Amino acid sequence: MLQVLLPVLVSAASAAILSSRQTLSGSTVCEQIAGSINGTVYYPTTLSDNFVNDTEHYMSSSSETPTCVVEVASPEDVSSVLSIVGQTRTPFAIKSGGHASNPGFSSTTGVFISLVRINQVTLSADKSTVEVGLGNVWTDVYTALDGSDVNVVGGRVIGPGVGGFSLGGGYSWLTDQYGLTCDTVQAFNLVLPNGTITQVDSAQSDLFFALKGGLNRFGIVTSIIFKTVPQTNDVYGGIKLYGTDAVPDLITATNTFQDQNTDPKAQVILTLNGGSVPGAILLLFYDGPEEPAAFAPYNNVSAAPLISTVKSQSYASFSTGTDSDLEAGYRGAFHTMMTTSLTTAFLTAVYNETTFYGDLALLNGGNLISYDVEPFLNYGQYATDSAFPHANSPLPLNLYYSWTPETEDEYWRGVMQQSIDHLIEVAKAEGIFTEDAYAYPNYALSTYSGAQLYGPTNAARLREIQATYDPNGVMTLAGGFTF
Ligand SMILES: Cc1cc2nc3c(=O)[nH]c(=O)nc-3n(C[C@H](O)[C@H](O)[C@H](O)COP(=O)(O)OP(=O)(O)OC[C@H]3O[C@@H](n4cnc5c(N)ncnc54)[C@H](O)[C@@H]3O)c2cc1C
Ligand SMILES: *[C@@H]1O[C@H](CO)[C@@H](O)[C@H](O)[C@H]1NC(C)=O
Ligand SMILES: *[C@@H]1O[C@H](CO)[C@@H](O)[C@H](O)[C@H]1NC(C)=O
Ligand SMILES: *[C@@H]1O[C@H](CO)[C@@H](O)[C@H](O)[C@H]1NC(C)=O
Ligand SMILES: *[C@@H]1O[C@H](CO)[C@@H](O)[C@H](O)[C@H]1NC(C)=O
Ligand SMILES: *[C@@H]1O[C@H](CO)[C@@H](O)[C@H](O)[C@H]1NC(C)=O
Repeated sequence: MLQVLLPVLVSAASAAILSSRQTLSGSTVCEQIAGSINGTVYYPTTLSDNFVNDTEHYMSSSSETPTCVVEVASPEDVSSVLSIVGQTRTPFAIKSGGHASNPGFSSTTGVFISLVRINQVTLSADKSTVEVGLGNVWTDVYTALDGSDVNVVGGRVIGPGVGGFSLGGGYSWLTDQYGLTCDTVQAFNLVLPNGTITQVDSAQSDLFFALKGGLNRFGIVTSIIFKTVPQTNDVYGGIKLYGTDAVPDLITATNTFQDQNTDPKAQVILTLNGGSVPGAILLLFYDGPEEPAAFAPYNNVSAAPLISTVKSQSYASFSTGTDSDLEAGYRGAFHTMMTTSLTTAFLTAVYNETTFYGDLALLNGGNLISYDVEPFLNYGQYATDSAFPHANSPLPLNLYYSWTPETEDEYWRGVMQQSIDHLIEVAKAEGIFTEDAYAYPNYALSTYSGAQLYGPTNAARLREIQATYDPNGVMTLAGGFTF
């Protein structure tokens, strides 16, 4: 008996020592940070609103409790924090809008850097550019620009932050007209892994390339200077919610839209849902005040929508009316694959996935089994030299599963990969799959890395840039993709 107990006692005691030592060193680092910045450090024990709000994520599985939250107030603060965590080798995280779908990408048990105080939206005098602090979420930016006659190529719904969204690529309602969000960047204000504050534009072609898809591997970006685009006062758009009876017609209409639309101002997303709330959501956007001819295929959908918010309204009103929070707060994940086009057989197979895995959902604590179909035109013509390759205009399919028990995390992530593997086979049979279309980093599961996200050439270039600018691997103390 004693023989059995002794090792247990010893290991319990050493675990206690280890954990108190870790807390001590973690909080010592936090105190050191508090003494060298103008921003504020919050601890879990103080139960402040700031601590709770700052560490929150869209998916609860993307949250952890850090040793402290650091609300940085300036690039100088970010520099101080990076130098301290780098020297002490302390795990840390950077959060912008908290919509990361992978655990640990913007959460940590170490030092949590919140950008909320870096929230400027500053239009240049001639309105050709706007500097946006990365503590902003997109809807704040649209509201700030409302009535200015200019806009930015940013997020499509309420919630995502300017940070991760832009540094991962960025599919926008304006993508068919101007490319991805990262294609519209004039300059990044960056704090390098060694704490040096710098501005990166096309003159520093390696970092400029790396920050367009490479997310948090090259330092912390405090603000981005975007080129603006003209914006009409009113746009036409909104959401239509349908029951499953409308799905076959919606598939036909979306396939026709992808085949026949030539108007880059007209974009749609078709969301097919299984699990707790089976049905479909059609998001429509037109960059002009009237319903365009491009949406005519959808007039053939015989079932009436259960809800429609489609109308003529300002861009700010349109974007703040596109709620995405209905499913927020569950465990969850995104995953993705890209196609070159759409076919009705492929879309029907996607719908089959929602019913097939939707039927398994209840048994495994599942909630929503969702697939976003995102038609686009030749947006690759606007592609700049970027880590995420998109010159061939790949069409992303975005899987979003949500579930309740943590014990089912591996199960559902496994199912999502299985579903992707199946749909890749369908896409190959339909002739709409190509090996050189890579998984969009902002939608991909963390099991993907390097060439799966960036292609072999870009992944090799990213590894070289990483070795040059982060020889000590400071940024790998934060979770994220590996190249
Ligand atoms: C409801 C919802 C809607 C979405 N809609 C779209 C869409 O329309 N188009 C699209 O392309 N994607 C969309 N996405 C995906 C979205 O682009 C990614 O989730 C994106 O990473 C979110 O950025 P964030 O700043 O909110 O997330 P965060 O979790 O804050 O950050 C994501 C990653 O970026 C890093 N990061 C953030 N800020 C910085 C910074 N300043 N410097 C360095 N690294 C940083 C983080 O460390 C983390 O690794 C959507 C996601 C959700 C959940
Ligand atoms: C803090 O603010 C003071 C006064 O505004 C300024 O002089 C100093 O440079 C700031 N320090 C940092 C680290 O930002
Ligand atoms: C935290 O979030 C809540 C709910 O959105 C809000 O009412 C509160 O003002 C926020 N607090 C801070 C300090 O941001
Ligand atoms: C609507 O359906 C009819 C009958 O199938 C078809 O002839 C027509 O082309 C469709 N209209 C559009 C705009 O897709
Ligand atoms: C439906 O999906 C399942 C899971 O991917 C697959 O095994 C099955 O063959 C699909 N059925 C059809 C008719 O596509
Ligand atoms: C920080 O890194 C940059 C880029 O690698 C380099 O030019 C600079 O000299 C470094 N600064 C310090 C203080 O090491």
